[in-house]
Amino acid sequence: MVGDGEGGSSSGSRTASGDSDVVRRERFSGGPAREFLSSLAADERIFDADLAVDRAHVVMLAERGIVANDEAGDILTALDIVEVAGHDDLPNGEDVHAAIETAVIEEIGPVGGKMHTARSRNDEVATCIRYRLREDLLDAVEATVTLREALLDVAAEHTETVMPGFTHLQPAQPTTVAHWCCSYAQALARDTARLLDAYERVNRSPLGAAAFAGTTFDVDRERVAALLGFDGVLENAMDASATRDFLVESVSALATLSTTLSGLAEDLVVFANKGYVALSDDYSSTSSIMPQKVNPDTLELVRATAGDASAGLNGLLTTLKGLPRAYNRDLQRATPHAWEAVDAVTHATDVAAGAVATADWPEEVLEDAASEGFSTATGVADLLAAGGLPFRTAHEIVAKASESGADYDAVAAAAEEVLDDPLSTYASREAVEAALDPVENVASRDSLGGPAPEAVAAHVERAGTELAEDAAALEARREALATANAALREEVNGYA
Ligand code: ARG
Repeated sequence: MVGDGEGGSSSGSRTASGDSDVVRRERFSGGPAREFLSSLAADERIFDADLAVDRAHVVMLAERGIVANDEAGDILTALDIVEVAGHDDLPNGEDVHAAIETAVIEEIGPVGGKMHTARSRNDEVATCIRYRLREDLLDAVEATVTLREALLDVAAEHTETVMPGFTHLQPAQPTTVAHWCCSYAQALARDTARLLDAYERVNRSPLGAAAFAGTTFDVDRERVAALLGFDGVLENAMDASATRDFLVESVSALATLSTTLSGLAEDLVVFANKGYVALSDDYSSTSSIMPQKVNPDTLELVRATAGDASAGLNGLLTTLKGLPRAYNRDLQRATPHAWEAVDAVTHATDVAAGAVATADWPEEVLEDAASEGFSTATGVADLLAAGGLPFRTAHEIVAKASESGADYDAVAAAAEEVLDDPLSTYASREAVEAALDPVENVASRDSLGGPAPEAVAAHVERAGTELAEDAAALEARREALATANAALREEVNGYA
């Protein structure tokens, strides 16, 4: 092992206090608080990110003549060795950044210490988090795309499958399975958009900000950003190293998504309870004591994930609130909130997609249920209003009818009580009976966004186009990252 700082090495490892750098690191290694201080274990998540950030930085240092080409070659070779050995083999350190640097120095000697020229762990860690979070956000986007696809597939199959629609958990108006599916597909499209929007602001490079105050070296920040596939730099160095608003924004988008998911899961739990949907065995559990039970546990867990996401958001906001400029170690405890939220929500989204794709919708049960609770009442009132009656009067008649049978005779009797004219002035018997039929009732609500089969079919078509655009946007971002990655490898190979 080299890098013990002894022997008057030209790399200048003595500090102002006279300690060698190794002695000094030992002196400030945390003592009894060592574990409390260290993020090394949690940093496994950004091990690959740190190697990429190190490589891009070293390539840029060589290009600018800040380190010699052969020194860069040695460092880049050492980084490959460290990568193969893996995170578990890293020497001890306050974090992955320090540990990788130590490993590089152990590998090639004091020259390895040149890797940290013109940067600080403050800009380094911020860059690593962004680098890794990009991938995680794209995985989350992919999960929303998959769930939307599953919902639109079910919708396309069930544009004519009527079912009860609810307000206050009471049967309200008949709708269709397709209309219900599209309601969540549309909400999830906004979730996709929010995640992609967060991505735009995550994908900026802080590297070169150094501790917060920039550097005397003639660095090329744009070049490093491009080598790492970032869309540009965060210019102000103090903001670049200090801000974690990109975590708040990302987790906020995830928390919103998890709230959408929790509603979808809750609906499915209720529907399963009423026999309106049969979840596949893969997404159900049984009881350890009650042999007959088939429980929607997976969806209850999906529903609960909103708790994880909002806890993460709250954790982040509380940790970040009132932090002064520039770097403070509190930031180390902010990061895991984001990892936990993105993992939990992405996983829950995948599970919800599987549950939706494999569920069965029993058409007859749903059609029978669709007229329960006189849920066609609004359609009858609409019909009378269309025939010229003030809607409020029509509402009064149908409300009376709902108390005495909820069929044609009940409507006619109520009309006679309220009106001077006969009911037929406003609607024929056939028309009233059609409005009382859930299938026809649904078919008559063909306004834009309504549940009538053609209206929903047209919506499914448009939503499919939007989905394809989002899938393409996802692919383009993934490709840009892969291209940058390959280009960085090429550059590295030119030295190593
Ligand atoms: N591990 C730290 C983090 O996650 C980065 C270290 C910066 N340390 C420092 N003392 N300035 O934020």
